[in-house]
Amino acid sequence: MIRSDLGNRQLLPAYHNSVGWLVMLFALCTCAFTGCGNSKATYKPNDLHAASLTREGSDLEPRGVAKAASALVEQWFGSLDAPRWPSEILGGELEAVRMDSVNRCAGPVGRGVDKVERGVYRKHCVSCHGLSGDGLGAAAMLLEPYPRDFRRGTFKFKSTPIGKKPTREDIHRTLYEGIPGTAMPSFRALEESKEFADDIDDLVEYVRFLAIRGEVERRIIALHVREGVALDETSEQLREVVRQVVEKWSSASSDQVTVPESPEFIHSPIKNPQEHSELMQKGKSHFESELTACVKCHGTSGAGDGTSQDYDEWTKDWTILAGIDPKHPSDWKEMKPFGALKPVLTKPRNFHWGAYHGGKSPSEIFKRIVLGIEGTPMPPVARAQNGNPGLTDQELWELVYYVMHLEDRS
Ligand code: HEC
Ligand code: HEC
Repeated sequence: MIRSDLGNRQLLPAYHNSVGWLVMLFALCTCAFTGCGNSKATYKPNDLHAASLTREGSDLEPRGVAKAASALVEQWFGSLDAPRWPSEILGGELEAVRMDSVNRCAGPVGRGVDKVERGVYRKHCVSCHGLSGDGLGAAAMLLEPYPRDFRRGTFKFKSTPIGKKPTREDIHRTLYEGIPGTAMPSFRALEESKEFADDIDDLVEYVRFLAIRGEVERRIIALHVREGVALDETSEQLREVVRQVVEKWSSASSDQVTVPESPEFIHSPIKNPQEHSELMQKGKSHFESELTACVKCHGTSGAGDGTSQDYDEWTKDWTILAGIDPKHPSDWKEMKPFGALKPVLTKPRNFHWGAYHGGKSPSEIFKRIVLGIEGTPMPPVARAQNGNPGLTDQELWELVYYVMHLEDRS
């Protein structure tokens, strides 16, 4: 009975997914004409970031700034078809990506003279995430949520706190499982095949590479616009940006938060109805407490219909932070020529559907609640630690139990 219901509950995500795939097919055809796979492809400069930073109080011409920043970043990180690693700045100490994997993913699709398959990213990801990892693939504007712009260096589903980078395992999990309830597909089949077994590991490196390159680009645009730092390869201030961004990625695994051991009720199903309803009561009281404020966004019944509505950081970046009201088309449309997509509110999850974007295991849900979902309004919950008010581990597991059991089973 539960199984057939699961089919229904998955209807919405499935709909999203099939739309995603159809659109991707369309995008692939478009690519055939516009040349996504052709070897002359180049990184798109980050016009939108330059436009939002120069919008108020700057005479700089945004496209010119973005183009100059892109040219400088190319000196350090290479071109789309020939990536490189800026060892001249980093020395041998900071190793944040494996370049052999990056080389396999970059470039046009096909086998090189060495018979090694290349262009893995263009083959699987470009229709949504775009060649530059800007989230502006041909299919992007038809999807909700939009495909991720990696260049902000912000990731949602991870095991590290807000402000820290995801680990390799976090990105691997996303690629292996996909993001249910969104267009992001699972690439599990690659790993399970003999021929493409290494593709996911290589793609993880490429996502890291695109995110590092993109964040460096954003930060040097900001230094140029805000502090007048010249976009010059020899600038020590700009080289320091490269070091800082790479350092954050190479230290991510030490920032990982360990999930405490779960109590019996989480992993062995409770058969006694009274015990179940007692636990649900406890979880509900945490969910409804002022301290957690879960209902503010997820609503009293957990249907995602609370009073608080907001945009994600990717959208706020070029709207609210640039003095633009995302609710008014006449306002935000001025940014469309720079690559802005229509602002869409980030919907708090409806727990009755049971589609968890970051994975449905209790330990993944625990991480989302304790760490928050970076880049979105979902905050980390207050934890009782060092005398601070908050939920204890036991209470957190009760909350996880409650949320998981809100899934419609009738
Ligand atoms: C059909 C469209 C589509 C394709 C193809 C696709 N993605 Fe995604 N991807 C998405 C969407 C949509 C999101 C945003 C989901 C969200 O914000 O919850 C996303 C998010 C992500 C994220 C962010 C996860 C996080 O924790 O924030 C990563 C990493 C990612 N995709 C990597 C890839 C890679 C690598 C490929 C190719 C192997 C790929 N995607 C192919 C649509 C796609
Ligand atoms: C300020 C608004 C806000 C508050 C407060 C909030 N959430 Fe969320 N929550 C969100 C949004 C928005 C998302 C969807 C984020 C995304 O994936 O883009 C979300 C997603 C989730 C998810 C889904 C994770 C997944 O993998 O799909 C869970 C579970 C969750 N919230 C639990 C909670 C709990 C429990 C609380 C209280 C401790 C809480 N939230 C408080 C806004 C909020």
